[in-house]
Amino acid sequence: MNIDNIQGTRTPFYLYDTDLLRTTLAALQAELHHHPNYVVHYAVKANANPCILREIKAAGLGIDCVSGGEIRTVLDAGFRPEQIVFAGVGKADWEIQLGLDHGIFAFNVESVPELEVISHLAQQSKKTANICLRINPNVGAHTHELISTGRAEDKFGIDMRDMADVIRLCHTLPHLRLRGLHFHIGSQILDMDDFVQLAERINELQAELARQGVAVEVINVGGGLGIDYDQPNENPVPDFRSFFNAYAQHLHLLPGQELHFELGRAIVGQCGSLLTRVLYVKEGHEQRFVIVDAGMTELIRPALYQAQHKIENITQTQNLRLTDWQFLDADTALYDVVGPICESSDVFARDITLPLTRRGDLLAIRSAGAYGETMASCYNCRPLPATYTIEELSSTLDDEA
Ligand code: LLP
Repeated sequence: MNIDNIQGTRTPFYLYDTDLLRTTLAALQAELHHHPNYVVHYAVKANANPCILREIKAAGLGIDCVSGGEIRTVLDAGFRPEQIVFAGVGKADWEIQLGLDHGIFAFNVESVPELEVISHLAQQSKKTANICLRINPNVGAHTHELISTGRAEDKFGIDMRDMADVIRLCHTLPHLRLRGLHFHIGSQILDMDDFVQLAERINELQAELARQGVAVEVINVGGGLGIDYDQPNENPVPDFRSFFNAYAQHLHLLPGQELHFELGRAIVGQCGSLLTRVLYVKEGHEQRFVIVDAGMTELIRPALYQAQHKIENITQTQNLRLTDWQFLDADTALYDVVGPICESSDVFARDITLPLTRRGDLLAIRSAGAYGETMASCYNCRPLPATYTIEELSSTLDDEA
């Protein structure tokens, strides 16, 4: 990252590295090449910025939506309805109607009442609704409590013990076409055994269905593959190979069955940074605070999930022309990096080592491409953050020069 290109830009803003995104997508496609029956839907909740969607579309991925707003956004971005799956425990009638009107690939249905409403609306509008039943597989994931979704006590999906009954119901309700089964056990999962557990559970469920003479055309295992928040420079591209191999080696697909995925974070997480400027360095008695102009309004993950994003002082790193590991003790200090919002949880990091930091320095909060911009809010009447790609910023500055 060349700091001269960004020094004069008003902060805070998201900076997207579309080259890295393209590299990540190429790595994904290279793995998919080995699995012709695998289909990836990008989980647009992770990042819906137009510059991101352009690259996702160019790579030919499908889309996973969780709201009518997301469906509209991706249709506007040029995705085709038959590339869209639509999940969510609480789909409103207008959102279902939108999906029906456009003939999306599947509604990932999470409850019996939802199934009945979809059937009713489909009948009214003389359409057939494509359905995947989201089954709660009661598989725990090694991740943060608040982003686990596949345990029996979580609100998501249909209890696996009810699966056979709901499939029977699906066949009796009008205007429904059952396409498949859908699962998603959680997010930021780095232990491949969690995916193996899911695969094994799906094998059991498919065996049970086979005994009843039921076979579906699609198994959708959701997303969840995590990224390396500690070392984004060393591991900019996630390990897609191990992820797909966990399924390839452990999931028994039926002949002709497609395996679908809904990856969000793994695709876009590393390509975004939140750029923020140091407003003040406050020397407390206990702590030394770096107060920056971005807060939980721009990136809520640390406040909400105690997430730790690597923070770099790119001004000082550049000035000293040293890499992190070359700093001498005297060149660094321990800091808490905090935002300006009136909430005690508005803290990006505690006790981290940074080069000696001053007012005006630019910090990059890394690995913020997923669930950063999309979760931004206007709390405290703050404006939503600006966003740039590295190319855009370079050309704007060239124009100004
Ligand atoms: N499919 C379903 C049904 C999901 O609920 C999610 C994420 C995904 C796919 C994509 O998961 P991914 O591949 O990105 O792990 N805001 C949180 C993450 C929430 C994830 C919600 N669902 C965070 O910042 O960590």
